[in-house]
Amino acid sequence: MGLFGNLLGSGESIFKNEDALDAEFIPKLMPYRDEQQHYLASCIKPLLAERNGRNVFVFGVPGIGKTAAVRWVLRDLNDNTDDVRTLYVNCWQKNTTFQIYVDICHQLEYMFTQNKRAEELLNIIKNVCNKKGVVFVFDEIDKAEDYEFLYSLLTDIYKRSIILITNYKEWLTDIEARLQSRLVPEVLEFKEYNREETEGILKQRIEYAFVSDVWSPDAFSLIAKTAFELKDIRMGIHLLRESGLAAEEKASKKILLENAKIAVQKIQELSLKNSADLEEDTQLALAVCKEQSGGKIGDLFKIYKERGGQGTYKTFQRKIAKLEQNNFITATKVTGKDGNTTLISAKERKLTEY
Ligand SMILES: Nc1ncnc2c1ncn2[C@@H]1O[C@H](COP(=O)(O)OP(=O)(O)O)[C@@H](O)[C@H]1O
Ligand SMILES: [Mg+2]
Repeated sequence: MGLFGNLLGSGESIFKNEDALDAEFIPKLMPYRDEQQHYLASCIKPLLAERNGRNVFVFGVPGIGKTAAVRWVLRDLNDNTDDVRTLYVNCWQKNTTFQIYVDICHQLEYMFTQNKRAEELLNIIKNVCNKKGVVFVFDEIDKAEDYEFLYSLLTDIYKRSIILITNYKEWLTDIEARLQSRLVPEVLEFKEYNREETEGILKQRIEYAFVSDVWSPDAFSLIAKTAFELKDIRMGIHLLRESGLAAEEKASKKILLENAKIAVQKIQELSLKNSADLEEDTQLALAVCKEQSGGKIGDLFKIYKERGGQGTYKTFQRKIAKLEQNNFITATKVTGKDGNTTLISAKERKLTEY
């Protein structure tokens, strides 16, 4: 039995450039985000005249082009001038001041970060960054464990724009007044795309990624509809790829409705399977999160214990982290009057059945 004998040769693939479906891919054009990008550019522009830039707080639900639009602006800036430096940090990956400094040093091509203290790293950053204007982007800022780096950069770097990106609007109002008053950012909201825009973006991505005319109209419209319902272009792009793979699996030269249906079913099954798969205690934790959506993690833990939930607070925190990873809830760190806490919100499952 030949396992690979029947596969289409690479020359026959329905994909023209599969990389265009990767999460990091930044398209050449970003339709429908012109206004936001011009606004970002206007906040950065003073740096080109050797003046201080403005800070921007960018927010909006996941999967609607916040990261892509900001990175697009950075790329455009880099294509046009060497006078301004751009630094991008994802605070989900680097979530402490120390890790963030190390990451920035590496981006500045300073590699001798081992055995150095945060303060020393900051000095290196100051030295390099105070030579010209600099744009800092901190994506998923709500995932940062401390904000020491923000205080320091705000105070010690003279010509800079700091762009903060998050899915949570509340982040800005929940941070300490002391930080708020130093940051005083412009606020830029990214709104969800409507049906037509969702279709436009996915159509464009198909042109980048697939050989022309391989998508049947009904397959495309199922994917566009699903992405619109989920209000998530990232998921839409994922479904484009999965549909293509499903078609290739059947050695089909076109992507048909049945292939798209398989892709959609797969994400539905994934979410159902996840919730059925959770251990009993995690199910209980999820039930409490749903009931008390928007509540503080400490309060949720109390209720969980009252209902017979097992384990320490630490184990509960791990359950919450697992639920977040699997997209059942969102957890937002906030700094309030009584110190730091995490707010938990249950997510709606928005897919319709068919
Ligand atoms: N207007 C747009 N044009 C082209 N692609 C877009 C547009 N908006 C979003 N995307 C794509 O959708 C995906 C999710 O966008 P992303 O910027 O990662 O979302 P967010 O940061 O808001 O969660 C990315 O692959 C991005 O390239
Ligand atoms: Mg993002």
